[in-house]
Amino acid sequence: MEVIIQPNKKMAAELTAKVIADHLRLKHDLVLGLATGRTMEHVYAELVSMHKSEGLDFSSCRTFNLDEYVGLPAEDPHSYRSYMNHHLFDHINIDVRNTYLPNGMAEDLKEECRLYEKRIKECGGIDLQLLGIGETGHIGFNEPLSALYSRTRQKALTQVTIDQNSPLFDPPEKMPRRALTMGVGTILEASRIIVLVTGEKKAGILAKSVEGPITSMISATALQTHPATTIISDEEAAAKLENKDYYYWLWENEPEWEAYRKTLS
Ligand code: F6R
Repeated sequence: MEVIIQPNKKMAAELTAKVIADHLRLKHDLVLGLATGRTMEHVYAELVSMHKSEGLDFSSCRTFNLDEYVGLPAEDPHSYRSYMNHHLFDHINIDVRNTYLPNGMAEDLKEECRLYEKRIKECGGIDLQLLGIGETGHIGFNEPLSALYSRTRQKALTQVTIDQNSPLFDPPEKMPRRALTMGVGTILEASRIIVLVTGEKKAGILAKSVEGPITSMISATALQTHPATTIISDEEAAAKLENKDYYYWLWENEPEWEAYRKTLS
């Protein structure tokens, strides 16, 4: 795992989008794992802008979202399908048939989860997975106690997550209490993982996720076992990290980041 700290959330999102864009340029039929949430809106805005200004090409890209609420039809404005259409898919040249989200309306949810895993495998696995971290330390909707080897399944949401996300629903009580989510084990199979974490509210959970012991109580700690995970954070979210000096050094000196250091505004 490595940690890259940027001065603010705009630059952190910009860097995340540039890393995604470079993967896409190198592999046109990239299998991209996607997340939703407020943090990602800035990344998707950047990607849309790169598509419009530089012709960033998504025509052969396949995408798999981490999760979807149970019981919300795709057309519901609060569904993650609607979120993805609104923030990304409607504005780029992706073939919508190549964009997958778990179907939270499926009659047989267990079978839906099995098929989702199968579809990921048939596409050759996820090349690059984008993640955020929730206030409980969840990745996807892997709430506390999620097995570190868990696969795509139905998961009950904690009150903390309901408090985090229900303000986005109108009325807030409409937020479903269950979701389908890729498992921690599913996520860890991605070849490369980029985690974007911004804002002071995430400072405590980011420090525990990166520098604390691995525990199923905080799913994000499982990322410490992944061979190619980069956490990109802003200063606010990085406030409680103990080894910040080392992380600044990585950004300033690692050859991998040289090209990005030069282009970030
Ligand atoms: C949603 C997802 C979640 C979010 C997390 C952070 O698809 O994967 O794990 O990334 O809840 O959400 P925000 O960005 O709204 O703080």
